[in-house]
Amino acid sequence: MDIRTEKTTAPKAKPTDETNLGFGHIFTDHMFVMNYDAGQGWHDARIVPYGEISLSPAAMCLHYGQEIFEGLKAYRTADGSIQMFRPDENFKRMNVSAERMVIPPIDEKFVLGALKQLVELEKDWVPHTDGASLYIRPFIFATDPYVGVKPAEHYLFMIILSPSGAYYSTGLNPVKIYVEEKYVRAVRGGTGFAKTAANYAISLKGQDEAHNQDYEQVLWLDGVEQKYIEEVGSMNIFFVIDGEVITPQLTGSVLPGITRKSSIELCRKWGMKVTERRITIQEVAEAYDAGKLDEVFGTGTAAVISPVGHLKWGDKIMTINDNRIGAISQKLYDTMTGIQYGKLPDEFGWIFKI
Ligand code: COI
Repeated sequence: MDIRTEKTTAPKAKPTDETNLGFGHIFTDHMFVMNYDAGQGWHDARIVPYGEISLSPAAMCLHYGQEIFEGLKAYRTADGSIQMFRPDENFKRMNVSAERMVIPPIDEKFVLGALKQLVELEKDWVPHTDGASLYIRPFIFATDPYVGVKPAEHYLFMIILSPSGAYYSTGLNPVKIYVEEKYVRAVRGGTGFAKTAANYAISLKGQDEAHNQDYEQVLWLDGVEQKYIEEVGSMNIFFVIDGEVITPQLTGSVLPGITRKSSIELCRKWGMKVTERRITIQEVAEAYDAGKLDEVFGTGTAAVISPVGHLKWGDKIMTINDNRIGAISQKLYDTMTGIQYGKLPDEFGWIFKI
């Protein structure tokens, strides 16, 4: 399929202060769009000026949330070139989400090529500052004008780009996380493993209540017994207990994070013991009381590696590693960003050059 390109006639001013981009507020001059119609498949791939889209008020995505998305980044290296981190994994996961949400699959190679073309066109928007990057958001949503409940027959696939800094305003400083005991994010047989809007909509109430108590995010427990740790919602979670790196196994209700997978691969390469298993919040609290909870950190594309300084479970407040960045978190952050920004060799073949 050919990709038609229509360039903007009114390019926007680029941000001048790259140390103050925030996350996901600014968008570039162009976006990628492609339509799906039943009987015709994906068609009309195009790169067009970034702008508003017109939708029927009856568009099915607005009523029943048939939507999936991805998140990845493009980085500028010291020699000025641009590269992405494991983008093939994102489009592979997008097709897993698509299958769960009864959305037609995409051609992974084609959309990766389309993304490359879009980032090439927008290369001047990729920040030059360490810690900043071009956040990439591919997404698909149902557009049929119909208010009955069924899988749609018409979809839009889009990619938008946002020069961004750290996801948390605190940067690499430890975040405060609140263990959610009232609400759940995902249930057995549900959509927890898929990157779909519903998983995030359902998390907002808990997040809002956490914010009211001055906590940044919520740590979700399993939806059946509410005792096993799952994820944070914007990132996967890791515990270092007595030198062992432990992360909840992928049971179907946890997002299979690409930074999660890469962190496991790195820790194993460094000879650390890494275990993917079910872990209860009780076990974490007991390890804390025994002085064995060395570190807690989150992993995610947006969050990168995010140390957790405080964990609140009911009345119990656990202060981890004296609220300082732990050695493993720091090593993972330095290595991951070192590879992403081209400062370290790409031993695993994770880098995709633009
Ligand atoms: C990402 O890390 O890219 C995500 O999609 C998480 C989102 C909550 C920002």
